[in-house]
Amino acid sequence: MYNVFVTRKIPEEGMEILEKECKVEVFPEERIPTKAEIIAGARDKEGLLCLLTDTIDAEVMDACAKLRAISTYSAGVNHIDVAHATKKGIVVTNAPSALTETTADLAFGLLLAVARRIPEGDRLMRRRAFTGWAPTLLLGTDVHGSTVGIIGAGKIGTAVARRAKGFGMEILYASRKPNREIEEMGGIKLEIDDLVRESDFVTLHIPLTRDTYHLMDERRLRMMKKSAYLINTARGQCVDEKALVRCLKEGVIAGAALDVYEFEPAVTEELYEMENVVLAPHIGSATTRTRTNMAIMAATQLVKALKGETPDQIVNPDVFTKKS
Ligand code: DGY
Repeated sequence: MYNVFVTRKIPEEGMEILEKECKVEVFPEERIPTKAEIIAGARDKEGLLCLLTDTIDAEVMDACAKLRAISTYSAGVNHIDVAHATKKGIVVTNAPSALTETTADLAFGLLLAVARRIPEGDRLMRRRAFTGWAPTLLLGTDVHGSTVGIIGAGKIGTAVARRAKGFGMEILYASRKPNREIEEMGGIKLEIDDLVRESDFVTLHIPLTRDTYHLMDERRLRMMKKSAYLINTARGQCVDEKALVRCLKEGVIAGAALDVYEFEPAVTEELYEMENVVLAPHIGSATTRTRTNMAIMAATQLVKALKGETPDQIVNPDVFTKKS
């Protein structure tokens, strides 16, 4: 039996996989554990199953000398110091493919919500302020016939393109490599600055790395059309949130729909007051089926890594060659 620490209870299906092969300790509270609590739990464990809200840095890894594998119940791995893990011979795995379509659904839902002012309409109804159909009530922006600019043409970006195609949108995308599937849908690859200038909706589907931090900075936000919207279901730090607030206040862009925040869980206060901003609480992967699949994937990967097998969702394949 391998000793494993899980930083938050995950769906039963994942727990069962772990419990068959491992002695499992779960952080007992319904809140994000502190770094000290993670270290206390994982100190004597070989495996760690963590969440995107846990910072697994060099300090944690160095304090947990027996750690051989870290599996994150997320697609993103920006909360883990992967380079340090690799140096220490710790295998890191994630659960990316489980949430592709679900996150694309949310991105598209946010796009529709902000364009057609659905949350504003909902708020109006709940104020009992609907007095009947009116010619100019909550006029929004057409989604069909508009141009979506997808930054990051990986699995989620491609899934968003499929939805955009279904809605009759023109598709632009920016990515290091050409994406055949998007091009077969008529999508055109552009440099990021050109995409930002030409899109009616700019949607982010990139991981958070040194290169993508503040990718949407003030300069790029100011390149967007005055009538355009920004959609972010990737990572909050990919957008300069203070600059976004300034641009929204000045009417540089028409609106934004956000699932993630630069200082998460804090949200820049002014955003709460803006009618043309849709705010979601980081729910990109939040469906019962997807969270179950993520739990199964994260648990399976951890067990494989602990058994010395190569996990299918390995984040740091170099670990097998660099291990001292
Ligand atoms: C992830 O898993 O990285 C997503 O942000 C979850 O919504």
